[in-house]
Amino acid sequence: MDRAENDIAYVLLTEEQILEKVHDVGRRISHDFEGKDPIFVGVLKGCFIFMADLMRCVSINCSMDFMAVSSYSGTTTTGAVKINKDLNSDISGRHIILVEDILDSGVTLNYLKNYLMVSAPASVSIVTLMDKPSRRKADVYADYSCFEVPDAFVVGYGLDYNERYRNIPYIGVLKPEIYSNK
Ligand code: IMP
Ligand code: MG
Repeated sequence: MDRAENDIAYVLLTEEQILEKVHDVGRRISHDFEGKDPIFVGVLKGCFIFMADLMRCVSINCSMDFMAVSSYSGTTTTGAVKINKDLNSDISGRHIILVEDILDSGVTLNYLKNYLMVSAPASVSIVTLMDKPSRRKADVYADYSCFEVPDAFVVGYGLDYNERYRNIPYIGVLKPEIYSNK
């Protein structure tokens, strides 16, 4: 049968575990940014399910925008990130909350944070669903992190492997043979 879930070795985070944490973080952000009218900036595509759940747990006035980025893969070590879709909002003087699926090497968020700083926002904070601190290369930290995860490749809840598995409703670890087949 054609089921995306057939390629999952085991479940790392269940839907219930995720929603509980997302509620906590949404409440904390609502408290910390009360009266500050922040702009949540989702980093596409991986953020889309996390952001949809998180925003429904944020009770304060706020707005939302999205960026799409891709990393130059393979040949370069400069950590250059390409911006495929930039913001539509003027962020000068505004509080920005970047929303990421997973903070891995940190290269993407470090680049984005520096890029946004040029437009003189009041602040730039980072909220991530997952953090893999053992893999960090860039000097970047999450202000809000739902889960610290081990160094395994995870999919589901918006995260992909070769664009697949984003639709799986929980976070799972792929079977090793899925990588070796490619
Ligand atoms: P970084 O620049 O190395 O921090 O990469 C962050 C991006 O890499 C994330 O936004 C994801 O799109 C992707 N990524 C890193 N680790 C994983 C993973 O385990 N599963 C799926 N995507 C990942
Ligand atoms: Mg991503």
